[in-house]
Amino acid sequence: MKHTSSTSAVPDAPRVPRHVAVIMDGNGRWATKRFLPRVAGHVKGAEAVRGVVEACVERGVEYLTLFAFSSENWRRPEEEVSLLMRLFVTMLEREVAKMHANDIRLKVVGDLSRFNEQLQAMIASAERKTADNTRLTVTICANYGGRWDIMQAVNSMTAQGGQPAGGYTEEQLAPHLAMAYAPEPDLFIRTGGEERISNFLLWQLAYTELYFTDTYWPDFGAASLDEAIASYQQRERRFGRTGAQLAEKAS
Ligand code: IPE
Ligand code: IPE
Ligand code: MG
Repeated sequence: MKHTSSTSAVPDAPRVPRHVAVIMDGNGRWATKRFLPRVAGHVKGAEAVRGVVEACVERGVEYLTLFAFSSENWRRPEEEVSLLMRLFVTMLEREVAKMHANDIRLKVVGDLSRFNEQLQAMIASAERKTADNTRLTVTICANYGGRWDIMQAVNSMTAQGGQPAGGYTEEQLAPHLAMAYAPEPDLFIRTGGEERISNFLLWQLAYTELYFTDTYWPDFGAASLDEAIASYQQRERRFGRTGAQLAEKAS
């Protein structure tokens, strides 16, 4: 199914979020609090992913998108960056077969050209292997930036030529976005206490419900996900309309 990422149509507001997007933050602080090196937090954080993936499958979430490495994270100490890359490789080696057995599709989005060839090949092979799985789509955003995504979409759209007289529309841009295969996120979660977007899905979060928690990512599990979903279920998603209009539609 093609999802038009556009604010001109009113999307549905499913009771269980179809698409959950997460900024997995707080690994470093989790470790520092325990007098451990920051990398220990990343290892623990990578382990936490599995529990949340399982919980999403059980709850009927269709898309889970995880911010693993931002285009700005290259600014970190070289040692930490290289550990994160190695961890990514290990996770692919360890988890892809299991994901495939559980009918989970894996996608990796971002500017992958900056990764080494071995990692790029592993990503391509994991995506190919799981391409037809339908139970849950897990997207890892790696070397991803929301502005990078919009710019690459603009460049890809305009490269086709033939600019329409009235200018391009949202509907024309949307299919060029890195996650055009997914509906826009219903629920955004950021762990670790910061309340910012940090250049995550800028276009796609236009009408997403935002949820922030102080819990550090390594401590985030099924129960934390349920709290986030419960908060989401309390929200009134108006998409520009009034509360009265929504009540009328529901009656
Ligand atoms: C998130 O945890 C993981 C990545 C950004 C790769 P952090 O490493 O940002 O943890 P804090 O924010 O320093 O605690
Ligand atoms: C955002 O976390 C990116 C990821 C979780 C991958 P950061 O820890 O890098 O964000 P800032 O720098 O605090 O905004
Ligand atoms: Mg952080």
